[in-house]
Order: sequence, then structure tokens, then C-alpha cells
Amino acid sequence: MQDNKRIPNKIYLSEEQLPKKWYNLRADMKELPEPMRNPGTGKPITEQDLYPIFCKELAQQEMDCTTPYFDIPEPVQEMYRMYRPSPLIRAYQLEKKLDTPAHIYYKFEGNNTSGSHKLNSAAAQAYYAKQEGLTGLTTETGAGQWGTALAEACAFFGLDLTVYMVKTSYEQKPFRKNIIQTFGAQIIPSPSDTTEAGRRILAAHPGTGGSLGCAISEAVEKAVTTPGCRYALGSVLNQVLLHQSVIGLETETALQMVG
Ligand SMILES: Cc1ncc(COP(=O)(O)O)c(C=O)c1O
Repeated sequence: MQDNKRIPNKIYLSEEQLPKKWYNLRADMKELPEPMRNPGTGKPITEQDLYPIFCKELAQQEMDCTTPYFDIPEPVQEMYRMYRPSPLIRAYQLEKKLDTPAHIYYKFEGNNTSGSHKLNSAAAQAYYAKQEGLTGLTTETGAGQWGTALAEACAFFGLDLTVYMVKTSYEQKPFRKNIIQTFGAQIIPSPSDTTEAGRRILAAHPGTGGSLGCAISEAVEKAVTTPGCRYALGSVLNQVLLHQSVIGLETETALQMVG
């Protein structure tokens, strides 16, 4: 049996151990989830349906249920190397408090300038947009983590960014706005009068504090009506799960190292 004391509190991998490929979980799923549906037709969505919203490479990743691994492009690896591999932490004190024989680990993803795991997908989404020759992205943010991460990634790859931030959150967290602006992005409290969706919501609910759904509507509308612009999303999507697999792949290597 492994001597617990020999497992360090923090397990760090070398930069050479950074994964070179993302893992597509769907390629190994025996039963796939129901397909996304086109809200216009009610039919399962096609890759082409997604082109007005997402850049092509990401639309392809979104729909691919068979390719198990995708190469992580070198410029994305370069951005990852600023903060990855992230440490795997053995939660000894929590184990003691719980008085459990279980070994508890967590991956600490707060060690980057944007402060969360969301940069793992933001880096990829900004890279592919730049690669396709787009000039800008839009997105929504709630608490502000995703908006911050995408602002950092857009600054790194040289893209414009407009962030619609849920109005209540925008008012409660003014420093989030400052960080996002420092990275060079534009930030707009939502609902706003900059989109048809926002104007309609404001007319129907004056004084509303907004919602994620409302901010998403504004960000998508802004993307599809602005030339050279697409929309980016930090959760929910298959492509996000693909990019975030870098966390699990590093964890696998780290756990192998300590047996
Ligand atoms: C689709 C979507 N957008 C935005 C957010 C908010 O993320 P953040 O608080 O990092 O902006 C979430 C959070 O779950 C989300 O699911």
C-alpha cells in the first residue's frame, strides 16, 4: 500500500508534461446525449447552422462525436505555458477534518491572471477566431469570471471583445469591470439599448437587473449583426468540455507519478 506521507501536498508537473492534445469524451460515450436543436426548425442542428455564431473550427469541434483527440495548437500551448500545468493538491486537512480514509485531491486552477479555469477554453476560442481572420468576439458574463478570462485571451491574440455583463452583477462588482477594461475589452451592463433584444427587454421590464439569458441574447445578436465578429461561450458547450479536458489529463499524469 502507498505510504500516504510520501504524497506531497502539491504535485507539480513540468512544462514538458503539458498535454499536447485535448480529449473528446463523446468519442468514448456508449450513449450520446440528445442533439442540440435548431430553435428555428426544431430539427437537430448542423455544423453549418452554427457558422453565423461560432467560428468554423469551433463549430466543427462542437459537432464532432467521433474524434477522440484534438491537437492543442502551438499558440494555445504557448498561452497555457504561462500558467499550466496547474498544481494538483492533496487536501490532507480536509481529510483529517472529515476523518475519512478517502484520499481527496483538487486541481487548483486559480493560478492565472484571470483567476479561474475559464482561461483554458477562452485561450482556444480566441485563438481559432484569430486564425479564421475574425476581428472580434462578443460574450456574456454573470459573476465576471468568464468575461475576464475571454478579455485576457482576446488581449493575448489581438481581438476586439464586447462583454455584456448582467446588470445587477455589473453594479455589485465594479472591479470586475475594471479588470475587463484593463485587458482592453468593452463592457456593457445588460439589458442595454445597444441591441434589439436589450431594447425589447428594457421596454417590457424597465428597471430589471437583467439575467444571463438576457445577456446571452444581446451578445449573440451583436455577434451575428457585426461583420467579422462571432460569439463565444464559457460553459454548456461540447467544445468547452473538450478544452477543459486539459485539467483531467494533467491530473491523470500527476496521479500516475505518485502511484
Ligand atoms: C452560459 C453561461 N454564461 C455565463 C455564465 C457566468 O459565468 P461567469 O460568472 O464566469 O461570468 C455561466 C455560468 O454558469 C453560464 O453558464
